[in-house]
Amino acid sequence: MQSLGIYMFGWQQFLVVGIILLFAAVELFGGLLNRDLRNTDDYLQELSGFLLLSLLTKPGIVLLVGFLGQLIFPAGHGFLTDYPIISVLIVYLLVDDFLQYWYHRSAHEYAFLWKLHRPHHAAREMGLLVSYRNAALYYVLMPNIWWIALVTFLGGGIPVAIGLVLKQLVIVSSHSLTKWDEWLYRYSALRPLAWLVEHIIVTPAFHYAHHGKAKDDEISDPNGNFGNMFSIWDQLFDSAVFTRKYPVDFGLPNDTGDSWQSHTFYPLLQAENPHSEISKAFVKELTTSKEPSRLNLKPGNYLWCSCGMSKNQPFCDGHHHGTKFKPKLFKVEKEGVYKLCNCKLSKLNHICDNSHKLL
Ligand code: FES
Repeated sequence: MQSLGIYMFGWQQFLVVGIILLFAAVELFGGLLNRDLRNTDDYLQELSGFLLLSLLTKPGIVLLVGFLGQLIFPAGHGFLTDYPIISVLIVYLLVDDFLQYWYHRSAHEYAFLWKLHRPHHAAREMGLLVSYRNAALYYVLMPNIWWIALVTFLGGGIPVAIGLVLKQLVIVSSHSLTKWDEWLYRYSALRPLAWLVEHIIVTPAFHYAHHGKAKDDEISDPNGNFGNMFSIWDQLFDSAVFTRKYPVDFGLPNDTGDSWQSHTFYPLLQAENPHSEISKAFVKELTTSKEPSRLNLKPGNYLWCSCGMSKNQPFCDGHHHGTKFKPKLFKVEKEGVYKLCNCKLSKLNHICDNSHKLL
């Protein structure tokens, strides 16, 4: 109970709410309502996500860990109070963000977790509330919420409180429509500062790229930039993309317009549309073939399907989400007929090299 009291009723909760209200006010006055692509389902999804996370999941986990801690390891209670706050804060934040990076990345690479995280990417526009769009179960399984609870039980309530406020600032601002980093890229004198900032924390440009619909705009990369507070993990684990530009198209390439209930309560509630990834009827199946496609292509960017599950072969239609596959971007400079691989075995990626003849 003591851990819960420290977590729920500390000063940090007022600051967290204050940060949300501040960005909400900036978004509202900045014209959010005039260019709103959200429908009622989107608002209900974001509101239910926010309320469930803040009032049920986080307090519930803090309470449970506090209870189990007292039962199993009572000597650990308050143990961190002997250490300087700054040291505990640094360790808390680094471990928290490392866990979050891998959890988030796994949610893009494994089918079940992807279905819990998919509502986050169904948003057709950015905004601070997008950070609350996930299935309720996604938050229950989120390792860093359990980490918050553990550090609080061990006596790190103050470092956790400071860390939560810092995290909230970065996370809300990287989803927000305010795009505070734009001015850093505008003036050449600020470029070194821009480089430093974006190589440490997650900026709006960095995170917007993760939400872009598809990488054929040469800005978006939904299979990269997984960082939550720091961009260092993406740089260390080879998933970072820095373009200093903002995509204009957000959302899922294969959006089936699912209800907020199926998004929030999957797998208890599932979508009715059999084409939806979160419906009972949905199956991912291979759509590869031994016949290459001979297509007349105009100059432009194309995304070739490497996972073999697109319903629009040989091009990507977003069915690779929830796997480790990523589409391959290729450019056509000159209009002409191209022979594109459909067996997915070509050594030349999208260009057929007759590997299908070996099948
Ligand atoms: S559908 Fe995107 S890589 Fe296959």
